[in-house]
Amino acid sequence: MKDLKDKVAVVTGGASGIGKSIGLALADKGTHVVVADIEPDTAEAAAEEIARAGVRTLAVGCDVADMSAVEQLAERAWSHFGHVELLFNNAGVAGGGPLLDATANELHWLFDVNVFGVWHGCRVFGQRFRSQGTPAHIVNTGSEHSLGIPNTQIGFYTATKHAVLALSDVLRREAPDNIGVSVLCPGIVRTDIWNAARNRPQAFGGPQDGAPEARVMMEYGVDAREIGRQAVAGVERGDFYIVTHSHVRKYVEERAAEILAAFDSQAPYKEGDDRYEVDAIIARVMAAMQEGKS
Ligand SMILES: NC(=O)c1ccc[n+]([C@@H]2O[C@H](COP(=O)([O-])OP(=O)(O)OC[C@H]3O[C@@H](n4cnc5c(N)ncnc54)[C@H](O)[C@@H]3O)[C@@H](O)[C@H]2O)c1
Repeated sequence: MKDLKDKVAVVTGGASGIGKSIGLALADKGTHVVVADIEPDTAEAAAEEIARAGVRTLAVGCDVADMSAVEQLAERAWSHFGHVELLFNNAGVAGGGPLLDATANELHWLFDVNVFGVWHGCRVFGQRFRSQGTPAHIVNTGSEHSLGIPNTQIGFYTATKHAVLALSDVLRREAPDNIGVSVLCPGIVRTDIWNAARNRPQAFGGPQDGAPEARVMMEYGVDAREIGRQAVAGVERGDFYIVTHSHVRKYVEERAAEILAAFDSQAPYKEGDDRYEVDAIIARVMAAMQEGKS
């Protein structure tokens, strides 16, 4: 989407870190911004800061893990602005610990926010974008962990970010032509995500302070403002993968090389193997069913 001026964007997790930086970068382009966050007061403060760039803003308290809250968010955004063109499914939380010691509660919480939250946004806003019929774009915040970095201690988080890539990759094929899709895959960024469990619901163990070592780690991250600008530039270019940290490339290469080596040794191509390609099978089955109907 080349011209972002006077478009309207909804940014979840927009009160802090990468989300607030996306809002600020959008405001520099003249885009009006809805700041949606589970912390309404922080969302209000971020909306005021973004509005200083001369755009209109709206703050909405919203827990993305709750589908009905995301429906209400869309309703508020459309009734306030009359149209919305951009959705950044950015709200996310981190936690977990080593896989052998982590708890199921932690896994449920991370999937609720990082995966269900993203899907809720895709579904609710995607359906509205489809009806609206004008160019629209959805950006899902994944991570370097979407691309295959297997850091220890954060296996649950990594699993959720793989899921975000998978959802985004299928959505870009299923979505109608007026809806573009991107996945934002940053490496470490200086934000408050180390303290994400401050808002963990009782059902998943309740609020908890972040570990001091996690806070110190974040200090090594890139400035969030830089990631906000890169996310917006990715939308302007229409890129699917929006990548920001060059070191991630070597992990992508290593993973691809290991998988390709497995194919070379265990399942080398034989004449006729193409008949098992699922895309072609789906097309054939759908065509046959369609023919049966007519
Ligand atoms: N910081 C990093 O190193 C890094 C790297 C790659 C990807 N990410 C991803 O970037 C996204 C933003 O994280 P950040 O680093 O800016 O962290 P952050 O904690 O600074 O910001 C996250 C925001 O999301 C909000 N939030 C949390 N749960 C929510 C919910 N259920 N509903 C609505 N809002 C909710 C928080 O209140 C906060 O304002 C996340 O998806 C995260 O996984 C972060």
